[in-house]
Amino acid sequence: MGLLDGKVVIVTGAGRGIGRGEALECAAQGAAVVVAEFDPSTGESVAKEIVAAGGRAVAASGDVADADVANSLVATALSEFGRLDALVNNAGILRDKTLAKLSDDDWDAVIRVHLRGHFLPTRAAVQHWKEAGKPGHVVHTASTSGILGNFGQTNYGAAKAGIAAFSTIVAMEGARGGITSNAIAPTALTAMTLDLMPQEFRDERDAAIARGEFDFFAPENVAPLVAFLCSDASAHISGKVFGVQGDSIEIFQPYTSVAEVKNDGKRWDPEDIGGRIDDLWAASGIQPGPENMMARMRYQILAL
Ligand SMILES: NC(=O)c1ccc[n+]([C@@H]2O[C@H](COP(=O)([O-])OP(=O)(O)OC[C@H]3O[C@@H](n4cnc5c(N)ncnc54)[C@H](O)[C@@H]3O)[C@@H](O)[C@H]2O)c1
Repeated sequence: MGLLDGKVVIVTGAGRGIGRGEALECAAQGAAVVVAEFDPSTGESVAKEIVAAGGRAVAASGDVADADVANSLVATALSEFGRLDALVNNAGILRDKTLAKLSDDDWDAVIRVHLRGHFLPTRAAVQHWKEAGKPGHVVHTASTSGILGNFGQTNYGAAKAGIAAFSTIVAMEGARGGITSNAIAPTALTAMTLDLMPQEFRDERDAAIARGEFDFFAPENVAPLVAFLCSDASAHISGKVFGVQGDSIEIFQPYTSVAEVKNDGKRWDPEDIGGRIDDLWAASGIQPGPENMMARMRYQILAL
């Protein structure tokens, strides 16, 4: 018995990396999988791998930020497998540059693939579930770059923070219909991130794998949480942002107010704010200047 026996799941960007791991795990848990992937050859090969292992899968190629492609994914799930139970929005790209050097195209491409590429398939799935009167589960892929910020990633971080907010609101709107929406902030070494790692780190990792040690940054490690969030076992969990890497699952605190200064029921004079704003830092421990929130994380690729 698998956690997803008889279920049907769409995974976007499933041709390689984290999405491939998610597609394989959902199939191993009993789901039929629509392998949605921009690159037809990798998408086909993941679908074949699932079928060769005795599972059910179909490849759907195209750009998930294109409306016709995104809308066709739900139709494919219904025509091939007769139902849709979960959607995993995973497809993504990087175009890293510091802001002063960032081109319009690199801004637009990243915002489009991530935000539109999450919005369109989610809207199609939610419309289907609402019309059919059925529950469903959506898992979105945010990033610590969006939640905490990361140097050189204004485009990517803005998109990923937007995805976390998008997921939270989908969760609110879906609650009455039993539609859950959660986001993950994964960390894994994939084609997206491996080249960013120093050779020394990669050599150490390869040696550890050769010794049979747990490969903390293997993309497949993200998949068990995602399969769980696609299942009815998580029907009571929604609107949350999870960190996931290696053997670690974390929960992120949503943005929340932690300190306040008041002006005795009167409108503030801008000149008075400078004398009172330090109370916010003192009460909260928050620093007034830019902070490297990533450096406070328990797990960092470069810290190992
Ligand atoms: N690897 C990490 O450490 C990390 C960290 C935080 C977030 N993420 C996010 O996880 C997701 C997967 O990343 P990954 O590391 O596996 O990257 P990857 O580059 O290995 O895989 C991404 C896949 O998405 C596909 N894709 C890209 N644009 C697409 C589009 N428009 N339509 C359909 N498919 C498309 C690519 O062809 C590729 O197969 C991304 O959203 C990424 O931003 C990754």
